[in-house]
Amino acid sequence: MEQTVGAVLKSFTSEPMTDILAWAHDTLKENDTLSFEVLNPDFGRGHYAGETITVHKTSYLYRSYKAWSDLGELLFCRMLTPKPVSEHTVQITYEKLDLSDSFHHSEAKEEKYGTASRFAVIHKNEEPAFLSAYLRALQSVKVKEKKRILNLGINTGDEFDLIRQMFPHEEYMNLELMGIDHSESAISVARERFTEGNATFYVHDINDIASLGLGKFDLIITIGTLQSSGIEFKPFFMKLVQEYLSAEGAMIIGFPNCRWMGGEMIYGAKAPNYPYSEMSILVKDIYYCKKYLQQKKFRVTLTGKDYLFLTGTKLI
Ligand SMILES: C[S@@+](CC[C@H](N)C(=O)[O-])C[C@H]1O[C@@H](n2cnc3c(N)ncnc32)[C@H](O)[C@@H]1O
Repeated sequence: MEQTVGAVLKSFTSEPMTDILAWAHDTLKENDTLSFEVLNPDFGRGHYAGETITVHKTSYLYRSYKAWSDLGELLFCRMLTPKPVSEHTVQITYEKLDLSDSFHHSEAKEEKYGTASRFAVIHKNEEPAFLSAYLRALQSVKVKEKKRILNLGINTGDEFDLIRQMFPHEEYMNLELMGIDHSESAISVARERFTEGNATFYVHDINDIASLGLGKFDLIITIGTLQSSGIEFKPFFMKLVQEYLSAEGAMIIGFPNCRWMGGEMIYGAKAPNYPYSEMSILVKDIYYCKKYLQQKKFRVTLTGKDYLFLTGTKLI
């Protein structure tokens, strides 16, 4: 792909980020891409953003590739591969994301996250920010000591797949895994993926979990599901803790703090009525769970970034 077609090329040396941000916002009103020339970050390795680096009598304010990548994300753009412009500078190019390309806009009900949806193309375990936080949560609840594991909103089973990879086969076969989701198409894929005989999947509304008569679990995992419309978050959460956790049971609740759009996982929770990321509901729900679990004598941790993971482990 040619990076400069239709792009605006501008050079920045010692301009502050406020100028660059304002210029980028303005430019993207009229353009789908923008390009600019900056100091090659490789020449300032170890510096912090804003430190001055002088090259051949030109002073530059340093920014890392991480800072340029963050800026792209904040502008709802993807960053293309930087190109060398001169011995010490590179061209950074951003391309607007197609914000309409997202499962978030779907009006479907049970199949909003089904195999025909845009959600189905997402492999969260391939996003390091998700993967490392989820792995940490699994370690935090000592998944290797658990036997009966329930996942609510399991979809096609990615969250069990990682557990399967963590265990030697014989130990894995000692686990009893159960997953519930109201998407029939997603559950049929999960059933095809887990044929070892120790996993059971239900096409079912989790509001009516009681009718399945599943008993209690050593670990309950639910990621991106409890805040769904149609689920009364607080009463449902309390019911899980009171009725579905064994005496030493643990929980992992994953709260999305991102949106999936145009091929990217964009940081920040979306709240109704706000055109930008707003985290009040997220923080309120997390705080509620944390307080409740602590009252019930759980040790609680909160980790992650684009997905926040609350873990609760019984203090014995
Ligand atoms: C945002 S997706 C998250 C899926 C998976 N845990 C993940 O993080 O990739 C929410 C999942 O919960 C399921 N779900 C939402 N409400 C449900 C309900 N009331 N009963 C059963 N499943 C539900 C959806 O079908 C979907 O698979």
